Amino acid sequence: MIRTAVTGACGRMGTLIIQNILESPDMELSAAFDITNIGMDVGEAIGTGHLGVPVSDPADIQTVIKDTGTQVVIDFTIAVAAAGNVVKAANAGANLVVGTTGFSEEQTRQMHQAIRDNGVAAVISPNFAVGVNIFWELLKEAAGSLDGFDVEIIEAHHNKKKDAPSGTAVKAAQVISEVLGGREYVYGRQGLAPRGDEIGIHAVRGGDVVGDHTVLFFGDGERIEVRHQAHSRQAFAGGAVRAAHWVMEQGAGVYGMADVLGK
Ligand SMILES: NC(=O)c1ccc[n+]([C@@H]2O[C@H](COP(=O)([O-])OP(=O)(O)OC[C@H]3O[C@@H](n4cnc5c(N)ncnc54)[C@H](O)[C@@H]3O)[C@@H](O)[C@H]2O)c1
Repeated sequence: MIRTAVTGACGRMGTLIIQNILESPDMELSAAFDITNIGMDVGEAIGTGHLGVPVSDPADIQTVIKDTGTQVVIDFTIAVAAAGNVVKAANAGANLVVGTTGFSEEQTRQMHQAIRDNGVAAVISPNFAVGVNIFWELLKEAAGSLDGFDVEIIEAHHNKKKDAPSGTAVKAAQVISEVLGGREYVYGRQGLAPRGDEIGIHAVRGGDVVGDHTVLFFGDGERIEVRHQAHSRQAFAGGAVRAAHWVMEQGAGVYGMADVLGK
């Protein structure tokens, strides 16, 4: 049985990931962390019924990981919290699956350092949906074949999403920029804003949109649109739980979802 802990346990993704762990025959929920409902049974907090696992204070993450024999931690919280959780969990010797988005370069550097220093394995991805990882592959192919085309990225998410643009849109821009030998990013446009050679990135927020990403390649007299739409958060939760199984079999290092999928 893989002893699995969830940080952000009471959030939208954390709740669904716990449900996936409960349905997985070779996983068990070893611990749950959140800044709300501390001390309460996590199953009662998220509405699955009593699970016998309390919501622990993230401040105690190292001790709880060791006391509960946690082997892998799945984090879907918020960048500033995740950066700290990941460093402490790596220090406690746990493998990691990190779905949180919006990290600064410094936060990313600190997490990678802790993962390397402690010899643990981590899958870090701004999007665990299988289809999005194919979407990034399609973008590479399109960018490499559409010389001189203007590139714009539009992403839409629900009105509770905190960071913008989405980690998935940023990764899409990075993938395209790499193929094109480096491009500036322009986030939205206002006032005098003539188009240069940049990649435009636009974030739309509203309602209950789970996650839409469209990349437009504009040429003279034509355009191509490459689009991914997530219909349900299960696309992300299923991928994250798959990554948690996979990471248990890996040597130390930082991996992406493409590695999990063998791409
Ligand atoms: N990689 C992916 O596939 C993917 C998919 C969906 C969402 N996300 C990202 O996952 C993150 C969470 O999304 P969500 O919709 O579940 O958000 P949410 O706001 O519903 O849940 C976040 C939870 O984290 C908790 N939290 C805050 N600080 C904490 C800390 N220090 N320790 C433990 N828990 C803490 C909050 O109380 C909350 O319950 C966001 O960054 C989002 O962009 C990634």
